[in-house]
Amino acid sequence: MRILVCGGAGYIGSHTCLGLIERGHSVVIADSGVNSSPRVIPRLRRLAGVPIPVHRADLRDRAAMTALFATYRFDAVLHFAALKAVGDSCRRPLDYFDNNISGTIVLLQAMRGAGVRRLVFSSSATVYGEPERVPVREDAGLSVMNPYGRTKLVAEQLIGDLCTADPEFRAANLRYFNPVGAHASGLIGEDPCGEPTNLMPYICQVAVGAREKLRVFGGDYPTVDGTGVRDYIHVVDLARAHVDALEYMVRADASVTVNLGTGRGVSVLELVHAFERASGRRIAYEIVGRRAGDAASVYADPSLAHALFGWRAQFDVDAMCRDAWRWQAMNPEGYRTVARREPASSRGRRARIGGSRAVDVV
Ligand code: NAD
Ligand code: WQD
Repeated sequence: MRILVCGGAGYIGSHTCLGLIERGHSVVIADSGVNSSPRVIPRLRRLAGVPIPVHRADLRDRAAMTALFATYRFDAVLHFAALKAVGDSCRRPLDYFDNNISGTIVLLQAMRGAGVRRLVFSSSATVYGEPERVPVREDAGLSVMNPYGRTKLVAEQLIGDLCTADPEFRAANLRYFNPVGAHASGLIGEDPCGEPTNLMPYICQVAVGAREKLRVFGGDYPTVDGTGVRDYIHVVDLARAHVDALEYMVRADASVTVNLGTGRGVSVLELVHAFERASGRRIAYEIVGRRAGDAASVYADPSLAHALFGWRAQFDVDAMCRDAWRWQAMNPEGYRTVARREPASSRGRRARIGGSRAVDVV
């Protein structure tokens, strides 16, 4: 299939482009660059070994989107293009509504104009709000905790209405839990702007000395060690899930909404210790007060994705930390770094991931 990947230069989109290409699909990227570096593209092309057309386009730019759909005949669209920082969304909700919701509407209109009726949408476990019970199943109640979460829930609802109105439209809403890790090559990974708000990139920056210590938000939750529990999922497992879901959607001619997680809860301190083992570095931390809006424990019941299309996460927390550390050590300043050699602590332990060959950097 020829796939339009909106937001394909970002963290999860870039890994998914590789996953698609490994399974024989061709990829065209549309990305506004609002949260991505142009330096990801040559690395992606090098890893993929095939040309990848890239269009710098904002989804809200109707003319650009119409032109894109007139240039290529797409079989399906993968839609990663959104702003994603929860705190930022509370400070400037209108920008999030505009980028994430208006962008989705213009994309859906362009798809309709071109007769493209297959969509994979990046949703989030945030649509469950503070879940009443864990593990969280797809039929759990939905609620909104912040403007970012609202954009995900609204987008899912818009897509649902479209599926109702157009009996031939098929969509896969993929609710990600906590994506972490990086490609085995160490060439692509997560590159947050400014101070990270998510746990794994913060730990990575402490490990390379860019931050002094991690602040652990809350040590008095009713969890294994008092710290918050989440379901971390390797980004390469997540990328593979997109290809599996897309192929299932086409094969079964069905729409789906599924959780993507490992099903295993991991506490903040368990992740810190796993990262210390993987990197050989000590992660300084201090336990501080709880962060507003955080739940004690959130992890997925991922069995529906397995039942429908056979997907299951393969990588454990040690692999997530090893690959996150390799990326960080080789790129201490993210894509601003001229790639460095692989860290000694992970050399020789590089797995072949998702069928792609690891690439040595000189
Ligand atoms: P990211 O910021 O790395 O990638 C998003 C990409 O979309 C970026 O390259 C950005 O430049 C682009 N983009 C944003 N708005 C755009 C627009 N209007 N037009 C064109 N391009 C635009 O984020 P990510 O972590 O790769 O997340 C991808 C998707 O997954 C997002 O929709 C996010 O909400 C969702 N998600 C992420 C997480 C997470 O923890 N990373 C968890 C759940 C869901
Ligand atoms: C994980 C755990 C924190 C940072 C967020 C979004 C969610 C989704 C994924 C997009 C929690 C603790 C964190 C730190 C810490 N994104 N923590 N110190 O909150 O589960 O989910 O990202 O859809 O919508 O809300 O992830 O990585 O921020 O936090 O102690 O410096 O780490 O309290 O227990 P979260 P996170």
